[in-house]
Amino acid sequence: MSEQRKILVTSALPYANGSIHLGHMLEYVQTDMWVRFQKMRGHLCTYVCADDAHGSAIMLRAEKEGITPQQLIDYVREEHYSDFKDFHVDFDNFYSTHSPENRELSEQIYLKLKAAGHIASRNVTQYYDPEKGMFLADRFIKGTCPKCATADQYGDNCEKCGATYQPTELKNPYSTISGATPVLKDSEHFFFKLPNFQSMLQEWTRSGTLQESVANKLAEWLDSGLQEWDISRDAPYFGFEIPGAKDKFFYVWLDAPIGYMASFKNLCARRPELDFDSYWQEDTDTELYHFIGKDITNFHALFWPAMLHGANLRKPTGVNVHGYLTVNGAKMSKSRGTFIKARTYLDHLNPEYLRYYYASKLSTGVEDLDLNLEDFAQKVNSDLVGKVVNIASRCAGFVHKGNNGVLTQPAQEPELTQAFAQAEAEIASAYEARDFAKAMRKIMALADLANAYIADKAPWAMNKVEGKQAEVQAICSLGINLFRQLVILLKPVLPQLTQAAENFLNVKAFTWADLPNDLINHQLNEFTPLLTRIDMKDIEKMTEASKQDLLETNVAPAATTNGELDKAPLAAEINFDAFAAVDLRIALIEKAEFVEGADKLLRLSLDLGGVKRNVFSGIKSAYPDPSLLEGRLTLYVANLAPRKMKFGISEGMVLAAGPGGSEIYLLSPDQGAIPGQRVM
Ligand code: 2FM
Ligand code: ZN
Repeated sequence: MSEQRKILVTSALPYANGSIHLGHMLEYVQTDMWVRFQKMRGHLCTYVCADDAHGSAIMLRAEKEGITPQQLIDYVREEHYSDFKDFHVDFDNFYSTHSPENRELSEQIYLKLKAAGHIASRNVTQYYDPEKGMFLADRFIKGTCPKCATADQYGDNCEKCGATYQPTELKNPYSTISGATPVLKDSEHFFFKLPNFQSMLQEWTRSGTLQESVANKLAEWLDSGLQEWDISRDAPYFGFEIPGAKDKFFYVWLDAPIGYMASFKNLCARRPELDFDSYWQEDTDTELYHFIGKDITNFHALFWPAMLHGANLRKPTGVNVHGYLTVNGAKMSKSRGTFIKARTYLDHLNPEYLRYYYASKLSTGVEDLDLNLEDFAQKVNSDLVGKVVNIASRCAGFVHKGNNGVLTQPAQEPELTQAFAQAEAEIASAYEARDFAKAMRKIMALADLANAYIADKAPWAMNKVEGKQAEVQAICSLGINLFRQLVILLKPVLPQLTQAAENFLNVKAFTWADLPNDLINHQLNEFTPLLTRIDMKDIEKMTEASKQDLLETNVAPAATTNGELDKAPLAAEINFDAFAAVDLRIALIEKAEFVEGADKLLRLSLDLGGVKRNVFSGIKSAYPDPSLLEGRLTLYVANLAPRKMKFGISEGMVLAAGPGGSEIYLLSPDQGAIPGQRVM
């Protein structure tokens, strides 16, 4: 075998305030498959991760739950860890960024950067919540859009008209934490001087460390000049205090990537073969890969390498970026039951189904990956059950009945065995390049060859012919050995199925090097079904259960909402007549479609029991597949004055709630409501 590589691998650290869902899992499965491949190849590959435990969202979440941040992050870490374990994501260490190692490393790196002149400080004027006594990040401020006067818009952009602005430009601003009117206040902040690393980054991003499309995207930033990066936050904040600065904390994104190092350091203390310093010194011969989603590219491919470089540490060998997960062609949606938590999936389906499906669709690009639930069932059933497992179940019975479960010399089929031998190198290169889809295609093509061979020989017919029994054993022994090779090739993707197969084949844990070693004159163990088919009913149960998850209150998926609570002050009281003046009706959405040239709008054709209305509604971000709205009932303001828009006239409006983006929830009546009915 070639020389043993020393490889350190990470996945992005999940925030410690929400559950792991199938979108997260895409990344962990991708990384885990790559790591398992490297380990099978005999390399010293180490996979570390941790919970990302700091920040104001976590602090506020804990407060809301009436527990300490430490209690919250401990609880969530347990939950995350068991989700990963049950998906067979096999970390060498799963730690927390709120750890002594991380505190020490963060301080060290910061002080090195400071000593080298890479830290600046200056005053920043920001909104401050006088009631809560804290500075407010943009997402904790809402107010009326300065352009279109829509109420309840976030501090940096308007969901309605798309305007971007400074929080100070909002009319009637309020803190979403306490509802108080924020005041402007000065505070000293520390900045990392990213521009000092411009030329280093220009070179590093083009040195084969990134996918080309990612490097191109970053070039836009690099060419337009880098800004200094604000790395401090004022108390109260859950994080590490900055040495030498009272009541100032490292911004969560400063210590998060250092958390990779800290998790590794914590592991090194109990694994003597791993030497922490040799992995992080500038002239290391070890490799370091980060797997991340495209939304956090800047942090990993600009800030992080610059921090490492400035502290005289090694830079990543590669940052591997993937796209987002969509489900059934749309953003994951809570109301459609496609916002699926890892645990909800596990309650209904085998994790290896999903691992295989992800593998079959993951290649080297940053395109989004769609989990189409029907395609998922179809693919798993046809490939894994219909092709791979089928080979063993067709052959095992004959070997057990005809030869007491002992494999004989396999039949000689040079073309077939050569096809397998030749594909090995290509499959290994595809794994190495993270082109799992290509590896799966090649493996399934081999499975097709093996199945065609068995179908052609039809041992079930041959077995009835006098004097042919030895040939039947040779055919089935070849069949089982081809199955064995397929299992080895699939081992990074399907660790559990592999273990069951190793049991049946009566062998030690497979490595890649076992591929050419046929089992001859070898005793098998009893064959038990290795994998069952996916039943669409289980998928339906899972999506139903996901709708129920909406109602859960323990730890909400705050990673997407930043723990923001809707604290809009209540509007002034009105009398009943004022309310009754609003003609609210039940409306049937007959048609829902995109509007050419409009980023945020959908055109809805409504039926009010015979009367038809046309409405433009700014809900596109939450309903990227508008056809799913068709046939649905909703609530409609029927007597709102028609509004002339660029795209036509909007007659009234439909009602929805939520902070915006993918989280806009169109209101629905209970079953039994009839289009046109008045709502009171
Ligand atoms: O975006 C996120 O979910 C972050 N918690 C990822 C952090 S990755 C690393 F840098 F720590
Ligand atoms: Zn606006």
